Amino acid sequence: MFSSVRVRLTIWYTVVMTCVLLVLAIATYLIVLNNAIRRTDSAIVEQADSFLKTVDAEANGQTGVEVLLESVTVAISEHRFRDTLFIVLDQSGNIVASSQEPERPEEHSAALESLHGSLHSLTGSKYPFDTTRSGRRAYRRYFRPFSAAQKLCTLVVLQSLHPQQEFLETLIGTFALVIPLAILLASSGGYFLARRSLAPVTAMGAQAGRISADNLHERLTIENAKDELGALALSFNNLLDRLDQSFEQQRRFVADASHELRTPVAILCGEADVTLSQPNRSPEEYRESLSILHAEAYRLKQIVEDLFTLARADAGQYRLSPTSFYLDELVAECARNMRTLASAKQITVRCDAQKEMPLEADETLLRRMILNLLDNAIKYTPQNGSVTITCGEQASQYSISVQDTGQGIPADAQPRIFERFFRVDKVRSRSESDGGGAGLGLSIGRWIAEAHGGCLELTRSDPNGSTFTALLPSSQTSPLIPRLSSSR
Ligand SMILES: Nc1ncnc2c1ncn2[C@@H]1O[C@H](COP(=O)(O)OP(=O)(O)OP(=O)(O)O)[C@@H](O)[C@H]1O
Ligand SMILES: [Mg+2]
Repeated sequence: MFSSVRVRLTIWYTVVMTCVLLVLAIATYLIVLNNAIRRTDSAIVEQADSFLKTVDAEANGQTGVEVLLESVTVAISEHRFRDTLFIVLDQSGNIVASSQEPERPEEHSAALESLHGSLHSLTGSKYPFDTTRSGRRAYRRYFRPFSAAQKLCTLVVLQSLHPQQEFLETLIGTFALVIPLAILLASSGGYFLARRSLAPVTAMGAQAGRISADNLHERLTIENAKDELGALALSFNNLLDRLDQSFEQQRRFVADASHELRTPVAILCGEADVTLSQPNRSPEEYRESLSILHAEAYRLKQIVEDLFTLARADAGQYRLSPTSFYLDELVAECARNMRTLASAKQITVRCDAQKEMPLEADETLLRRMILNLLDNAIKYTPQNGSVTITCGEQASQYSISVQDTGQGIPADAQPRIFERFFRVDKVRSRSESDGGGAGLGLSIGRWIAEAHGGCLELTRSDPNGSTFTALLPSSQTSPLIPRLSSSR
């Protein structure tokens, strides 16, 4: 039950509400009590003033105990209030006169008992009031020294706090009734509100629970894109978009990969079946069959190696193995190696790598990138064409450009040539190049350049030919190859 956010929110809300109401009730009680006491005190002082004025007027400058007693008695008879008691004490604390009604002596008895205790401490003090209790009743006491008929006395005014007590009790009673009711209302209101505001979250959770790899195209319903829940749903939908895209890429990759593998495997099987179908064949026939099998097996090996490289790169597991070498030498070596392939099509391969270009990088991977570019240039350049590979250095970057005199790449296909398995014209590529590529060379090449902190771009392509340029920082640092992203 407590695992529900709704319940937890309601409990928190109720606890906070209870604390606020209790603090409010206690503060109100204390303020009302304080006000009541202040008002009572000033009323007592006024009554004492009036009482003493009467005593003064009655004594009228005369002296003697009799005069004092007489004037006090007159003042008492003139100041008869229901809840107020006037007591006049002489210097030694004995009662000279009191307005206490003889028929109800028990009423103030307790308040009078402790009279002498407070008399000495409070008489003449700055705030000569105290509160005393008699049974359930409370009394406010006021001590005021005065002299009349040349006698020093103390007037004690005792006022019952019964009306104030009654009012405060009513206040407490009201609080006791209203506070639980308010808490009950607030907590049920809080629960309702929490339920209402969390309802979209519950709905989102249920919707999200139904989304799996099979229906990744489904999205959460966004009721209000501007509020927090709308923003959450939007972020979740964006995440689903990315996942969907990634799943789609993976699906396409697997489909393309299996498609590319199927062709050489089918040729291998077919060729082997045909060769074995007749028991007696001439050595030439066997040789021809074997060379077809060899070519297809080699192509298969190439595709599997490329796929393996890309799979490792995707998983972020490929580590560079940097060594120190001269890039110009590597480029010249690659150009030399490709000359045999080029001469079959009477294509001249020129290499312009004069300057020394020392580099610390993964030589094997860079060789692969350069060979891929040269292979493409030769493959997609018609007979008697030429391919030029140029090296240069600018702004602490080495550049390798491979330029050919081929028929170029159509403008609409240019943005896609670095995608995996993309070939401009799948049929033409294959037939022209005797078992053409799978469309992985450029994506691997771009990944290799990026893994070295550089880039690989198509810098020119028109009907007179194409130029691919790779830029590599002249000092390499990171040995860890990042995950492949842009070359997909
Ligand atoms: N120099 C070029 N001239 C014309 N088209 C090119 C050139 N280089 C690449 N392309 C086009 O870009 C496509 C992708 O090239 P990529 O190197 O990735 O694949 P591939 O050469 O077909 O196969 P693989 O390299 O896997 O053997 C090619 O199929 C081709 O259509
Ligand atoms: Mg290629």
